[in-house]
Amino acid sequence: MLSFGRTRAQPRSNRSMSLGGMDYSDPKRKNNVVGKILLAATLTAVCIIMLKQCPTFNSPSPFSLREDGMIHVLVTGGAGYIGSHAALRLLKDGYRVTIVDNLSRGNLGCSQEPKAVNSIFSQNAFDAVMHFAAVAYVGESTMYPLKYYHNITSNTLVVLESMAANDVKTLIYSSTCATYGEPEKMPITEDTPQVPINPYGKAKKMAEDIILDFSKNSDMAIMILRYFNVIGSDPDGRLGEAPRPELREHGRISGACFDAARGIIAGLKVTGTDYKTHDGTCIRDYIDVTDLVDAHVKALEKAMPGKVGIYNVGTGMGRSVKEFVQACKKATGVDIKVDYLPRRPGDYAEVFSDPSKINRELNWTAKYTDLQKSLKVAWRWQKSHQKGV
Ligand SMILES: NC(=O)c1ccc[n+]([C@@H]2O[C@H](COP(=O)([O-])OP(=O)(O)OC[C@H]3O[C@@H](n4cnc5c(N)ncnc54)[C@H](O)[C@@H]3O)[C@@H](O)[C@H]2O)c1
Repeated sequence: MLSFGRTRAQPRSNRSMSLGGMDYSDPKRKNNVVGKILLAATLTAVCIIMLKQCPTFNSPSPFSLREDGMIHVLVTGGAGYIGSHAALRLLKDGYRVTIVDNLSRGNLGCSQEPKAVNSIFSQNAFDAVMHFAAVAYVGESTMYPLKYYHNITSNTLVVLESMAANDVKTLIYSSTCATYGEPEKMPITEDTPQVPINPYGKAKKMAEDIILDFSKNSDMAIMILRYFNVIGSDPDGRLGEAPRPELREHGRISGACFDAARGIIAGLKVTGTDYKTHDGTCIRDYIDVTDLVDAHVKALEKAMPGKVGIYNVGTGMGRSVKEFVQACKKATGVDIKVDYLPRRPGDYAEVFSDPSKINRELNWTAKYTDLQKSLKVAWRWQKSHQKGV
């Protein structure tokens, strides 16, 4: 292309000179001009032929065609914490991957315009969608509920409509244990009643309901994964979790521990030490992101047309906030300052999963989750990516 540009530039500068000369009707010059025009035309023709032979010229992008043996996955929210880890794993496993992310959050950090979403679907031959894109902070959802209903519930509807219109056959949906609310009985199974208590959980539950209603008259293969508390990062150090600084106040416990270890915040505030748990602090089920994306790949492999699979993705073992902080101190090597405060409204004592269904049906178990090791891996990335990049 560069040499084509130069060839065109030359006759252009000659042309102005020659035009002046032609007025004097110098026959030699006239021949010269004709020769140059012929040369330029020939070169142009050669360039066009070469360009046409180039595989990308005029031919549709391989992403717009279905290809035997190649599974093309759309990863929405693929610039975010979990979506980026999933995209990396899919690429490693030989999938074709397209990421859509509005960069409103996630590691780089509008709404999903139905028209824009539709055009992405019509220009690409997706076989499956992993729908991670969402705003995802419980605290923030109580302050801006409409944002959550719009971004989670209504955008899932848009994605689903586009999938149906473009004959995309498989959906892996990111849901959450927040859809269960405060169950009376532990551990949480997939049959535990879903009674969410905050807009985030409610928006996800509504999105699940839309998907389930749609599935009744569709042969789409659907997997709904309800994650518990996600921690850790890529063991090879290529990715990590780095929410935008302005979201820090809504952040999750691991982010807060790392911020305290880095001195960005003065210390950790642990709310509630009088819960009916072995050490008085809340208990949660932490799952390493490497295990979580493995569950997605297994769900993708086992998804069946016309069927819906719903699975908890957790370890089945709860760890208290005190245990978490202790593990974080060991992982970071920093003696994080901890303030113990009274309970915060809306927190529940104990949440952990029963992962036996996903163990049994998808042959998945949490292999990488080890509180201290997972936090150590994440801390390594945090230390070398102070600004998230
Ligand atoms: N992190 C957890 O502990 C956890 C637990 C349960 C469920 N989930 C779910 O997992 C998914 C991913 O969460 P995460 O922790 O990676 O969050 P994240 O904020 O790191 O990533 C979400 C990504 O979605 C993008 N996004 C948001 N709205 C969008 C839109 N309208 N269009 C396009 N992109 C948009 C953001 O820019 C961001 O990159 C979410 O659906 C979340 O609800 C997360």
